[in-house]
Amino acid sequence: MKLPGRNENCWCNSGKKYKKCHLRSDENGETAPPGVTQQVIRHPTVTPGIISPPRQVPDNMALPEYTKSRKPGGRGISCQKETEDEISRMRRAGKVARGVLDSVLAAVKPGITTDALDEIAHLAAISFGAYPSPLHYMGFPKSICTSVNEVILHGIPDNRKLQRGDIINCDVTVYIDGMHGDCSETVLVGKVSDRAHSLVQTTWECMMKGIEVVSPGQHFNEIGRVIESHANKSGYSVFRQFGGHGIGQNFHMDPYIAHYYEPENQTIMEEGMTFTIEPMINAGGPGSKSWSDNWTIVTMDLALSAQFEHTVLVTRNGVDILTGEQKPWFLRGDI
Ligand code: MF3
Ligand code: CO
Ligand code: CO
Repeated sequence: MKLPGRNENCWCNSGKKYKKCHLRSDENGETAPPGVTQQVIRHPTVTPGIISPPRQVPDNMALPEYTKSRKPGGRGISCQKETEDEISRMRRAGKVARGVLDSVLAAVKPGITTDALDEIAHLAAISFGAYPSPLHYMGFPKSICTSVNEVILHGIPDNRKLQRGDIINCDVTVYIDGMHGDCSETVLVGKVSDRAHSLVQTTWECMMKGIEVVSPGQHFNEIGRVIESHANKSGYSVFRQFGGHGIGQNFHMDPYIAHYYEPENQTIMEEGMTFTIEPMINAGGPGSKSWSDNWTIVTMDLALSAQFEHTVLVTRNGVDILTGEQKPWFLRGDI
């Protein structure tokens, strides 16, 4: 199919002239008419900035193993929690991660730098007596990840100021009482395009649908099945290179949790397991590329990407969200 001329009828059958209907949004790459594979040229909205030195933690703070040996503990350790004590420490880590994330999200506004958000998170974690897990994890230089617009994940806080119309994912992980808790939300900076808003909305729904299927005896692949199907219904794609993970005494543990359907994966959920569900949903294609900082991953086509994350516990008859049941920040009105 060819795109209509300016004065021809729009492809969407609205009866309006193309120039009065979808012309502008097609040019911006915000819509793709059915059957049209157009080459949309987008420009990066985020570029590498200036990264401030790693922040310090108090001398007496309990540190995770990777800050000493520079190597994280093995993934292959079970994320199964055997005792009430382990579970209550996981609940604590989840609550503290939520508290830190809330302090960061409350500060999101046009003009603030992602480095300032990092400082807020760092100080909040320390005030709870928690270590900000990303700091020095496999060489990561800051205390949280901040992923803006086309950045899918692992954005490093720097001197970039948030702009009206941006979307930003803030990803907080803390280590306290020997356990990690991990959560993230994408929020809107001021008024954003309808396209951005619906991507964020659908991504949150994807995470919630993934959480709803968690219960003992369930296949892990059910999570990816419901997430992928919901994302694809809206024409979005699931980012596949990273997924959820077991979590507990180590930051990233088995199992790996795909956000797309893996029919061959026969792993079953068991009571006492703690893991994350953290779908990354791209408005365009699933492709990605990494910046030369070897952390920041952006969409190949520079279309927007959003993410939400909770840490969950498999209970006797279902699931507990350890990182908070509250309404997400993007639904609480514009910042
Ligand atoms: N919080 C991320 C996750 O959800 C991991 C960040 S690792 C870091 O798994 F090193 F980039 F911080
Ligand atoms: Co995270
Ligand atoms: Co995670």
